[in-house]
Amino acid sequence: MKLYALLCAALMSGTALAAGQPVLDVYKSPYCGCCGAWEQHMAAAGFTVRSHPVQDVPAQRQKLGMPEAYGSCHTARVGSYLIEGHVPAADVQRLLAEQPAAIGLAVPGMPQGSPGMDSLRAQAYDTLLIGKDGQARVYQHHPAR
Ligand code: CU
Ligand code: CU
Repeated sequence: MKLYALLCAALMSGTALAAGQPVLDVYKSPYCGCCGAWEQHMAAAGFTVRSHPVQDVPAQRQKLGMPEAYGSCHTARVGSYLIEGHVPAADVQRLLAEQPAAIGLAVPGMPQGSPGMDSLRAQAYDTLLIGKDGQARVYQHHPAR
């Protein structure tokens, strides 16, 4: 009986963890291939991805509140944060663990070798933390490969 209760508790906490997977709402053009590849990268890392096709990606970015200067091909929302472009899942997980006061993370442009932009030659790029004042600082550097 005691063992059964323990097993139950273990199973329930497993269920709770699965239910607690962060939901990622992705706003992207329906014609964007690399956006889909990034969504797959995020899903593989445990995010529950909800895809929202939009016709005007820059207008959607502005509506969500990500400054245009950091724009890429898609804008996502996870919790209270915005995620712009091909940000690695590990950086988003760190953001959610650290919970800084910020708009969110951005990888401006579409650097070769970032998740969803797979390429034999990966260029160096930075994941930026965008503060509530719109200022950016380097959150994580990703070296060239
Ligand atoms: Cu892209
Ligand atoms: Cu994209």
